Amino acid sequence: MVIARSIEALLEAKKGYGGEIGFVPTMGALHGGHLALIQTARSQNDHLVVSVFVNPTQFLEGEDLDCYPRREEADSKICELAGVDILFMPTTDQMYEKDELTIGAPLRGGYILDGAKRPGHFDGMLQIVMKLLNVTTASRAYFGKKDAQQLFLISQMARTYFLPCQIIPCEIVRDNLGLALSSRNAYLSVDEKRRALSLSRSLKRATRMVMSGNLNAKEITEEMRDVLADTDKIEYIAIVDRNFKSIGEVKIADTIILVAAWVGQTRLIDNIWI
Ligand code: PAJ
Repeated sequence: MVIARSIEALLEAKKGYGGEIGFVPTMGALHGGHLALIQTARSQNDHLVVSVFVNPTQFLEGEDLDCYPRREEADSKICELAGVDILFMPTTDQMYEKDELTIGAPLRGGYILDGAKRPGHFDGMLQIVMKLLNVTTASRAYFGKKDAQQLFLISQMARTYFLPCQIIPCEIVRDNLGLALSSRNAYLSVDEKRRALSLSRSLKRATRMVMSGNLNAKEITEEMRDVLADTDKIEYIAIVDRNFKSIGEVKIADTIILVAAWVGQTRLIDNIWI
C-alpha cells in the first residue's frame, strides 16, 4: 500500500493503473462502517483508493474540527489489511488554495435538516468530494446511507456536473445493540452510549408502526419523540421521500425516516430507508 500525502504522490502512485479505480472518501478514525465501504469497493474495482482527510470547510465555527478523532496509524493498518492500494492523506494546503472558486449546495436540498442546523456544511462537503473525485479519477465512489442527505447531494452533484463517476450507496453498519457506527461515538461515555441507543430504537419503533399498517407521518413522529426522550435534545425527526421532500404518509420503497439528536455534547444522526 502506498501512503500518498500530496497530490503529486497520489498521481505518481496511480500512474500505471489500467483498470477501474474504486474510491472511499473518509475523515478517518475508521470503524466497521468505513470498512464495509472499503470491502465493497475492493470487490468491485481493479484498484482501490481510500482518503483520510478531516475537511475543515465542512465544519462550522464552534464545531469539533480541532478535537475530531485522528488515528493515522490505526487507519493505515486497517487500510493495509483491507487491501487498499493507495491511502491518500493530504494536508489542507494540498487540497485548498486561497480565495478559490466554490461550489454550492442546492438552495432547498442543501439547507433543510442537517443543512438547516449546519448552514454551509454541505457546501464544504461537496467542495471536497468534487476535488477528491476529480483527483482520484475514480470510476466508482462509495458512500454510506448513514449520511443520507450527504449521499443525496453527492448523487445530485454527480448528475448535475456530469461527473464520470458512479456513486454507490452502502448500507448502514450498526453495533450489536443497534447503534449506528460513527467516528463521533468515540466522544460518548458509557451512559451516553446507552442513551444514544434511543435513536435506533426510535427508528425501530417507526418501522414496527409501518409494518402494522400505520403510515401516518405525524403519528410516527410523535411515537419516535417519546422514544427519544432519553436524549438531551432532539434536533429533528423527519419523514421524507427519496428526494428529501416531506411527506404526510409513508410510501413503501420511497421513504427515509431520519433523526438527529444530542446526547451530552455529541450530535448524532441515524435513519432508516423504508
Ligand atoms: P466520514 O464521516 O468519515 O464517513 C465516510 C463515509 O463512511 C461516508 O460515506 C459515511 O456515510 C460512511 N459511514 C459512516 N458511518 C457509517 C456506518 N455506520 N455505516 C455505513 N457507512 C458509514 O462522511 C464523511 O466522512 C465526509 O463528509 C466525507 C464524505 C469524507 C467528505 O469529507
